[in-house]
Amino acid sequence: MLTPDDTYQLLRTLTSPVVAITSARAGVRNGMIIDSAIRASIVPAIPRIAVFIHKFNFSHDLIFGSGAFALHLLRTDQYDLIHHLGFHSRRDVDKLATVPHRTGATGAPLLDDCYAHLDCRVINAMDTGSSTCFLGDVVDVGFGAAGEPRGDVMTAGFFRAHIPAAWREDYVRQLARAQGAAERTAREIRPMVWKRKGDGR
Ligand SMILES: Cc1cc2nc3c(=O)[nH]c(=O)nc-3n(C[C@H](O)[C@H](O)[C@H](O)COP(=O)(O)O)c2cc1C
Repeated sequence: MLTPDDTYQLLRTLTSPVVAITSARAGVRNGMIIDSAIRASIVPAIPRIAVFIHKFNFSHDLIFGSGAFALHLLRTDQYDLIHHLGFHSRRDVDKLATVPHRTGATGAPLLDDCYAHLDCRVINAMDTGSSTCFLGDVVDVGFGAAGEPRGDVMTAGFFRAHIPAAWREDYVRQLARAQGAAERTAREIRPMVWKRKGDGR
């Protein structure tokens, strides 16, 4: 018989690359890290991405309110950026103040230093209880300020295998705290209708 932990370890094999998600609304800009992005279309002419953003993260309301986000594939040498964006909240620090970026077509910030960026407009969303799954149309693609892909993409497997020892304890503690918060709301799923947003750039 599998325990819930055994099942969770199986689910972890389904994680996406470790990517940076940026968003902006009413002049407030932010970036965070996720490993829950998936390709949501097989049609080359209609590229789509789905991302799962926990409601307790500051970025959630920026994406919900603006109807846009930019996804950034990162390189395997970008641990410092992952620590900066993924271990701290915009509630405590203006993270993008020290990260070079420009504004993309959707109004979301585009990071200069990344493997590639995909600027997305939200076209639908689903409440999962603890998070919202945002479905985005990719409206612009590029390779950061470099203009071409460099290095190797940061996968979830690489991230976990090579996370600096000094951050490991903090990562495990933050994950446990997020799991606790998610558990309290995971069963409160409300049907929702996505209306075109974009009110707060
Ligand atoms: C490797 C890694 C993966 C993460 N995956 C997710 C995820 O899939 N969804 C999510 O909402 N948060 C995820 N997080 C957590 C957020 O990045 C983190 O809570 C961040 O501080 C949120 O910032 P904000 O409050 O400024 O939005 C992940 C963090 C790390 C380090």
